[in-house]
Amino acid sequence: MANAYQEEMRARFGFDVDLGGEVPDDAWLRQVLMRRTQRRYSDTTVPDAHVRLLLAAAFSASSKSDYQQASALWLKDRDRRDRLAALFPDMPWIGTAPVFLVFLGDARRLERLGELRGPRQDNGALEGFFNATVDAALALQTCVLAAETMGLGTCPISVLRNRITEVAAILELPEKVFPVAGLCLGYPVQQGFISMRLPLEATVHIDRYDDSGLPKAVDGYDRRRDARHSIKDRQRDPARFGAAAFYGWSEDKARQAMTPEGTGFAAWLKTHGFTFGEPRETSR
Ligand SMILES: Cc1cc2nc3c(=O)[nH]c(=O)nc-3n(C[C@H](O)[C@H](O)[C@H](O)COP(=O)(O)O)c2cc1C
Repeated sequence: MANAYQEEMRARFGFDVDLGGEVPDDAWLRQVLMRRTQRRYSDTTVPDAHVRLLLAAAFSASSKSDYQQASALWLKDRDRRDRLAALFPDMPWIGTAPVFLVFLGDARRLERLGELRGPRQDNGALEGFFNATVDAALALQTCVLAAETMGLGTCPISVLRNRITEVAAILELPEKVFPVAGLCLGYPVQQGFISMRLPLEATVHIDRYDDSGLPKAVDGYDRRRDARHSIKDRQRDPARFGAAAFYGWSEDKARQAMTPEGTGFAAWLKTHGFTFGEPRETSR
């Protein structure tokens, strides 16, 4: 049974991963290993009850200190959705997906608990922001995996943060509530493809952090990805960066990162309740 996931490992990493021993053969794990983002959906309606089931699964995710600082906004109103989608014409799936959710970091609710029960605190320190972000991200990915289990396709949408002022106005977000990512949901119209991942040698460190093997690991990864799905004819901005003799994932991501995203998000957060300072004890 040692090679139970051989096909899935090849699909995900591009080579046979030696797990070093016997492992249980599990259908859901196979599905997780073969998961993929989907951006094109059929018109088939996703019943509201199914969405509620997915949201219940999403909010079953772990939560830091049981503070439960994630919220979700289910964008059902067509007009609001159209206004949101119009901000991102490059990503038409934001408007066309049968269901659109927004996973929110919610540092506000804990403060409201303080107001309701007496001991008030300010949750705008970095800790509050970070914990709310992590909770929302965990709920988002739990929703993704639950949706894929039900045969749905999903696409997280963090580009929302690039137009935070307009997005926050459309969704009427109060102070200390911010989008971590939207989530498109629908039945996929195509199989889609598996996005290969870096080898575990590059992402897993044993006992101490050591990335000395990164150059070799990335070279190999670039070549495997290129062999499966070459992007050599889609070089990003050659006028700025030149034409690379070999154009792989790492070159593409290094170039992509040169265009900053989320500009204005930090400033918006600072005018919406977050100081990002150290947490302070507040007297009752
Ligand atoms: C937090 C987050 C935000 C993302 N934002 C977007 C987005 O704004 N638009 C989009 O088309 N895809 C978005 N994606 C999807 C990623 O591009 C995708 O997960 C990545 O290319 C890997 O592909 P895979 O999920 O099929 O393995 C996002 C994914 C995550 C986890």
